[in-house]
Amino acid sequence: MNFIETNPYRSDFPAADQVIGGKRLAYLDSAATNLKPRTVIDELDRYNRLETANVHRGLYWLSENATTKFEATRDKIQTLINAPDRTQVIFTKGTTESVNLVAQSYVRNFLQRGDTILLSQMEHHSNIVPWQLIAEEKGLVIKVIPINQRGEILLDEYRKLLTPAVKFVSVVFVSNALGTINPVKEMIRMAHENGARVFVDAAQAISHEKVDVQDLDVDFLAFSGHKMFGPTGVGVLYGKTDLLNQMPPYQGGGDMIDVVTFEKTTYNNLPHKFEAGTPSISAVLGLGPAADYLMNLGVARIQEIEGQLLAYATEKLKSIPGLKIYGEAAHKVAVISFGLEGIHPHDIAALIDKEGVAIRTGHHCTQPLMKFLDVPATCRASLSIYNNKEDIDQLYQALVKLKKFFE
Ligand code: ALA
Repeated sequence: MNFIETNPYRSDFPAADQVIGGKRLAYLDSAATNLKPRTVIDELDRYNRLETANVHRGLYWLSENATTKFEATRDKIQTLINAPDRTQVIFTKGTTESVNLVAQSYVRNFLQRGDTILLSQMEHHSNIVPWQLIAEEKGLVIKVIPINQRGEILLDEYRKLLTPAVKFVSVVFVSNALGTINPVKEMIRMAHENGARVFVDAAQAISHEKVDVQDLDVDFLAFSGHKMFGPTGVGVLYGKTDLLNQMPPYQGGGDMIDVVTFEKTTYNNLPHKFEAGTPSISAVLGLGPAADYLMNLGVARIQEIEGQLLAYATEKLKSIPGLKIYGEAAHKVAVISFGLEGIHPHDIAALIDKEGVAIRTGHHCTQPLMKFLDVPATCRASLSIYNNKEDIDQLYQALVKLKKFFE
């Protein structure tokens, strides 16, 4: 089926079809945040309008209802990522908090001075800085896995870097800036052979790729709700049970305790040990229908739609003289980073906004990657299942008009 001419999923997303400033919106910034389907919006509305109550605390209907839905989301996420046990699904504020949790709770306690952490050249700042903070404090070494100009990890170089000193590897599954799909399963296998633990940042992967934690055999994996058609303010950390059990709590507060006295406190079981304080309840509830949407659609269908979008958008953009695409990995999702000769990326984004086209421009929170590409910034069009041919044509026409303006 030609999904990009007539996209049957677009009508599930009210924000996809709107006019802003007199222009039809072409929303091409899904790597920053996804639009939400109606089922998610309705669930958020229901909780905020009528079903408001705290979770795990009340014995009245509303609280029990919120708790049941909250825990049902955990079950759905367990199914989505094929986690062996529901207690391995920990709700956090987002991917960033999940990385910080593992840095502060696992790395702080299980790595020693002189141990090495490997990160790739294409990591998001949130998968660099939390490790740097703990590395500085504990005297750990951070080394960088190199990539090639197409934006692909150099596996041979990675193999060479995997010395006995390497105790931890953290790598992005799908690059937010380039769209590259990294061979994480292979990288995890290689790290395990070397005795290292692996954290996978699946923030971008979760809405494009199959994320099966058992198949990957990953030690820790994280993603955010708003990048899987859900709300902001909620994310997930998955971890292997033996590791999570050995790790001390990340934050203290309500819900994460067993017995508290002024002399000593004992902690709750998984996952509550890592969920201190009142969580973002409406966001977790909204994540439930988001997970349902993703599972009902299925990865195969998502890849079919996005494959068509990527092929069409790449061909259109490449036909514009002076346009350079950054990141042409053999395996990539529908993310296109680009620049136009002689025009600053910020001018491009600001001017095509006037034509109704929403893209992201800047360093995409990947300054080391920009340095490697030798550019201060790129423009990035990122597509999702609700986009269509018209969105891409609108981007193309806006860029052509912009080029004429600068001539
Ligand atoms: N990490 C998100 C992006 O790439 C915000 O835009």
